[in-house]
Amino acid sequence: MASARAKIAAFTFMALIMPRKILVTSALPYANGAIHLGHLVEYIQTDIWVRFQKMSGNECWYVCADDTHGTPIMLRAEKEGITPEALIERVHGEHSRDFAGFGVGFDNYYSTHSPETRECANDIYGRLKAAGLIDVRTIEQYYDPVKQMFLPDRFIKGECPKCHAKDQYGDNCEVCGAAYAPTDLIEPFSAVSGAKPELRNSEHYFFKLSDPRCEAFLRQYTGRANGVLQNEAANKMQEWLGAPGDNKLTDWDISRDAPYFGFEIPDEFGKSTGKYFYVWLDAPIGYMGSFKNLCARNGLDFNEWFKPDSTTELYHFIGKDILYFHALFWPAELQHAGFRTPTKIFAHGFLTVDGAKMSKSRGTFITADSFLQTGLNPEWLRYYFAAKLSNTMEDIDLNFEDFCARVNSDLVGKFVNIASRSAGFIAKRFAGQLAPTDASLPAIKAIQEAAPRIAELYEAREFSKAVREIMALTDGANQYVDSVKPWELAKQEGKESELHAACSNALNLFHLLTILLKPVLPVLAGKVEQFLNIAPLTWNDTQSLLAAGHAINTYEHLMTRIDPKQIEKLIEANRESLAPATEAGAAQAAGQQHSQQRHAEQQQKDSKVKAAAAEIAAEAGSLCSIDDFMKVDLRIARIANAEHVEGADKLVRLTLDIGNDETRNVFAGIKAAYDPAQLIGRLTVMVANLAPRKMKFGLSEGMVLAASDVEGKTPGIFLLSPDSGAQPGMRVK
Ligand code: 2FM
Ligand code: ZN
Repeated sequence: MASARAKIAAFTFMALIMPRKILVTSALPYANGAIHLGHLVEYIQTDIWVRFQKMSGNECWYVCADDTHGTPIMLRAEKEGITPEALIERVHGEHSRDFAGFGVGFDNYYSTHSPETRECANDIYGRLKAAGLIDVRTIEQYYDPVKQMFLPDRFIKGECPKCHAKDQYGDNCEVCGAAYAPTDLIEPFSAVSGAKPELRNSEHYFFKLSDPRCEAFLRQYTGRANGVLQNEAANKMQEWLGAPGDNKLTDWDISRDAPYFGFEIPDEFGKSTGKYFYVWLDAPIGYMGSFKNLCARNGLDFNEWFKPDSTTELYHFIGKDILYFHALFWPAELQHAGFRTPTKIFAHGFLTVDGAKMSKSRGTFITADSFLQTGLNPEWLRYYFAAKLSNTMEDIDLNFEDFCARVNSDLVGKFVNIASRSAGFIAKRFAGQLAPTDASLPAIKAIQEAAPRIAELYEAREFSKAVREIMALTDGANQYVDSVKPWELAKQEGKESELHAACSNALNLFHLLTILLKPVLPVLAGKVEQFLNIAPLTWNDTQSLLAAGHAINTYEHLMTRIDPKQIEKLIEANRESLAPATEAGAAQAAGQQHSQQRHAEQQQKDSKVKAAAAEIAAEAGSLCSIDDFMKVDLRIARIANAEHVEGADKLVRLTLDIGNDETRNVFAGIKAAYDPAQLIGRLTVMVANLAPRKMKFGLSEGMVLAASDVEGKTPGIFLLSPDSGAQPGMRVK
């Protein structure tokens, strides 16, 4: 009995002092597009968490990679006249540069097109096959006879079988929301070549997710009681699994035919099959590939981290729209291939900018590179995202007015201000040396007492709560400085030691607050470490103070304020004119744009905007020059949706498809003349560069053009329509 108790005590003690071994990933970005602020929500969220773990003394590794395979990357390379290998190499450089610019500190940023990922993919596939979980079936699929390739669903377009809207993708209708098979489309055409696709048979390999072993495992693994998923995600999984006894899981097609850029699937003798792993099969395996590569370079034992009974922890940070892949396919593959499964999967929401989806024509589809090139400090964004992020799947909004106000007030006005008000006196009057600090000072005690609570908030990914608490402590520190008024003590004779103590206390407060903010602001914290002349701060340092006699370095300004003009410049730099997209280009973008944007569009459609008071057209004024006229960006728009606005007598809410995968919400005063249902699918003309207007009922993002008789002799409103053949996004001039 005594020895059992001793064992438990020893284990508890070990658990307390032994650092945790943690492997963390963020979703792998596709290697055919630039990193934008939507992506950065996730990388910044993950990076803050990882930095907190490292500061807390845990062994934590953060890996990621480019997601390099698939048809869109193959076609993009072809369009650019380069090999896919050359494309992914170039994009790897761009992505690495952008992540480094935002302080995202991967321990390895690799590529899924790597020997390690190939080896892991073959291994997992072989083990699943040996377990009887791979099935080969012949399926009928659309084939482009001109391009000589099978077409993924998103590369086939045609008329919706339900609402008859034209130009819809092969998997679902963006107008009525119906989901269907590409073979249901009316008059289908290839979005790559425009050719009429033919149905052809092809053998495909399936992972048998519907197998009772997968079902039983996933019911337990994704259940709320298991705690792997956030509650809202666990609930979603139960829906996808179906009620017990009613298995809704379907087998997953994991192969693609040539031509395809990816890994060829080997047969049991390692010989060619002519089939390739579908990009989503090897993407999560890329986490393993990247880690395996890191292990080789750092002398780590890969097997210790991926064996089924591993005591290490594995966390995936992802966007909520790729839950299906991470919470069902991926754990089921790992489990049945004899590997460990993820400890937890953390899904986050998406980013809107100024309350609306990111838009290229409005300049709010902001690339990471343009942010850095415009001279904005990346830590402003890290701080703002931290101030908004929680551990839920809720979306977050980047409101530029709020962004400027918060950064300027919290970071410059409050935090940096503590140092700038005290450092100079220590340098000039006390040879840069600190006086003893009063450890019983309430502001110091408050920070030291709050530190474990704030650590829990970081651990729980409740960053907005952590930031709120840190800012309350910063207010307390400023109140202390305001109460002792170093600038007045400095003018009074005989107050030298009071001045010395006040400034030393203030710098100690600043030192403690820097530790709390370090996971969010690593560069700023690095500058503070240099200025305070101290070793890199760890979480343990929250319980100690800078000693009397400690010499600091010269204070240099730590952070500037945001000038709203910089934001204007940023938006201008990202504003793109709406060039009508080619079919192939549009489909390519649709096929593999970042999930963030896909989601943003869906969300836009779903959002409940309550009402508006819109004007339809401006009265014609005096003569205008051709240059003036050309400033008006008139575009062909397809009315993707039209609905009544609750509480508005004259308005119809229109969702306009203006090509290039962009939609706009417009409130039009045409209710008297049109039944919304009859407008759906119709083409019209809109002003695409009208400044968005906040109205009583929501945001109106443009204007549709309609004729009316100003003298009222012919009553009515007549919406403009282009001649047949015009396509959404075409410029009208
Ligand atoms: O949705 C995406 O952007 C994918 N490239 C994410 C892949 S995450 C993981 F599975 F590799
Ligand atoms: Zn439809």
